[in-house]
Amino acid sequence: MKPRPPAGASSSASAVPARVRPHLARITSFLIVFAIGYSLGLLSSSTRPSPRPSQTTIVRPHAAHLLTDASTTVPASNATASATVTTTTTSYPRSPPHDLFRFREECGEPVASDAVVPTLLEKLFDGESPYRGFPPPHTAALLHPARARPRGWGSTGAVFAELIEAVRPEVIVELGAFLGASALHMAAVSQNLSLSPAILCIDDFRGWPAFRDRFRRDVPPPRHGDALLLPQFMANVAAAGADANVLPLPFSTASALMALCEWGVYADLIEVDAGHDFHSAWSDINLAWAVLRPGGVMFGHDYFTSADDRGVRRAVTLFAKVKGLTVRPHGQHWVLSPKPHGHGSSAR
Ligand SMILES: C[S@@+](CC[C@H](N)C(=O)[O-])C[C@H]1O[C@@H](n2cnc3c(N)ncnc32)[C@H](O)[C@@H]1O
Repeated sequence: MKPRPPAGASSSASAVPARVRPHLARITSFLIVFAIGYSLGLLSSSTRPSPRPSQTTIVRPHAAHLLTDASTTVPASNATASATVTTTTTSYPRSPPHDLFRFREECGEPVASDAVVPTLLEKLFDGESPYRGFPPPHTAALLHPARARPRGWGSTGAVFAELIEAVRPEVIVELGAFLGASALHMAAVSQNLSLSPAILCIDDFRGWPAFRDRFRRDVPPPRHGDALLLPQFMANVAAAGADANVLPLPFSTASALMALCEWGVYADLIEVDAGHDFHSAWSDINLAWAVLRPGGVMFGHDYFTSADDRGVRRAVTLFAKVKGLTVRPHGQHWVLSPKPHGHGSSAR
């Protein structure tokens, strides 16, 4: 009769192959040490906070240097190829300088004032006035009867005459022209003072979403997605006999201002009245400042309502603070102190 193994040891010992049995004690202690180490690791990782969404920032490669405390930056696996994900507790770039304050301040070699219009006609209109042969019959058929005094907003305020008389501009840049009310007023005021400035009207001539609801009698119905603001503006200018002075530049304010800067086209007087949200106004004011001649004046509309406080007024106030200028409220308008000499071009 075979001796019976001790109770309890039978199944486990017999399950272990005979050649492993001598090492059983060492294997068991290794497993115990491993289990303790693993448990400790789990414990410590569960007490460390995982990054919350607010601590995970998408950082474009070109902006990475702006972070004060960028730690580990790794390519984002599921983001765009140009993005990286950085986990950091730093919330925002240090300031300044960062892009909100980084605008070109020096522009091209100045074009003489009397060469400004020919230069722009050459660069933008193949050397031909856009008014030549305007309006062609198919466009004329779409337009409202031209108005020499179109509708605008504070477009004939006293500020225009006061500044034109003080600055006696040879070149005026207007940001936001709409139907031409303020541009035509500036042309009329200038003529009364025996001045004949080039008035460059930068506007994309798209208005804003649903703008026509308020201007059905002033702007024709859109045609194939075209707001028809540009031809209506041109018709109004031509009807007022101001087409020799008032030139539309039908582009976004930012792209047109950057081109003027590149080409050395400067203004003595700049009126800002395009986008009224903070970022549009901030960008317009900063980009336009570069093409304002030293001694020139920048002014604009919408400094008087609570809505302005959210956009235009905050942008103007901040700009004046950054540049050490003063802001003078003038009716519905704001006027900045003249651009100091020693900034940008001084040639006329
Ligand atoms: C308030 S209206 C200008 C009114 C004009 N100054 C007057 O008194 O009659 C604003 C104009 O700015 C233009 N505008 C707005 N944002 C623009 C942008 N980013 N680029 C070009 N034009 C823009 C619109 O098309 C619109 O015609």
